[in-house]
Amino acid sequence: MTPGGAIIEVENLRKSYATDFWKKRTRVLDDVSFSVGENEVVGFLGANGAGKTTTIKIINRLAFPDSGTVRLFGEDGVARFASRRRIGFMPEQPYFYEYLTGMEFLGLCGRLNGMGGRETRRRAVAMMERVGLAAAGGMAIRKYSKGMMQRLGLAQALLHDPELVVLDEPMSGLDPMGRMDVRAIISELKSAGKTVFFSTHIISDVEALCDRVILLDRGRKLAEGTVAGLVGNEVQFIELVFSSPPGGEAGPDMPPCIRFSRAADDLVVRVRNVDDANLWIAKMGGRGSKLRSMTQVKPKLEEIYVERLSGTAGGEGRDAS
Ligand SMILES: Nc1ncnc2c1ncn2[C@@H]1O[C@H](COP(=O)(O)OP(=O)(O)OP(=O)(O)O)[C@@H](O)[C@H]1O
Ligand SMILES: [Mg+2]
Repeated sequence: MTPGGAIIEVENLRKSYATDFWKKRTRVLDDVSFSVGENEVVGFLGANGAGKTTTIKIINRLAFPDSGTVRLFGEDGVARFASRRRIGFMPEQPYFYEYLTGMEFLGLCGRLNGMGGRETRRRAVAMMERVGLAAAGGMAIRKYSKGMMQRLGLAQALLHDPELVVLDEPMSGLDPMGRMDVRAIISELKSAGKTVFFSTHIISDVEALCDRVILLDRGRKLAEGTVAGLVGNEVQFIELVFSSPPGGEAGPDMPPCIRFSRAADDLVVRVRNVDDANLWIAKMGGRGSKLRSMTQVKPKLEEIYVERLSGTAGGEGRDAS
């Protein structure tokens, strides 16, 4: 593996499921290709049923594609068994042996990962602490809340200090504090040189955390890029805030604007471009009004996401042909 190389390489994945007795097949993934580079944090977005979990299962060899390949750490085939220990995976619906305590469960995971007893114990204590479950280590998992199970799933994924961490909706079911914890953990993984690939529906988390985003729509890759690249540099509008002019409201001879409103003692004007902004500044200045602030507003990833997916909503797959 060369530094900066690809850690996950997904090429031309196709997957369909037989959905009924007559074996009509539904296409769930249709020629999906992307890669995740070393030390990148990449977000995987898409509506319910888009195929995120299916892709993530294929990456973890828990499902198999009809065609296409997944290479991890530049390795293929048999060598991938060795690469398993280099991956930490948190499934969408983690399965636990519920009669075990949290610490016992991590002990079992450590053994399955080939870790020694002392190392497992040390890492398990540290990970339970890190995910906020230090006080619940001795409690049977069946008594855990949904959010506690989610946290235990994350502790399990990180236990063996993997180089690549794949998380299927790590923030789901968590309260705001829990979400902040997971955000912090993902940032720490990035700082520690790890690679993180995670699916989510929480776009603000993607904006805050991700180097790149992959957007999936009904089994097809719709877009891929940096958050800035997807959002673009285009300014949506410029917002100007003026102190109220002594002579009252703006009259009919005012320059063009998108919106004009009053907020407390201020007048808030939205304009399309810098030229219009300058016209407003000159006009309002002439009426004794002061410019308090001027902000360029760019679209958010959420708006881009909704715009690209609008008209394609609905989680139904396509008929395979
Ligand atoms: N084992 C299966 N048998 C038949 N269809 C399946 C199976 N697993 C998934 N599917 C179908 O594949 C499609 C994609 O499902 P997947 O779980 O990958 O979506 P997702 O993007 O993870 O959605 P969500 O955001 O709801 O988690 C859905 O239409 C789903 O019904
Ligand atoms: Mg899913």
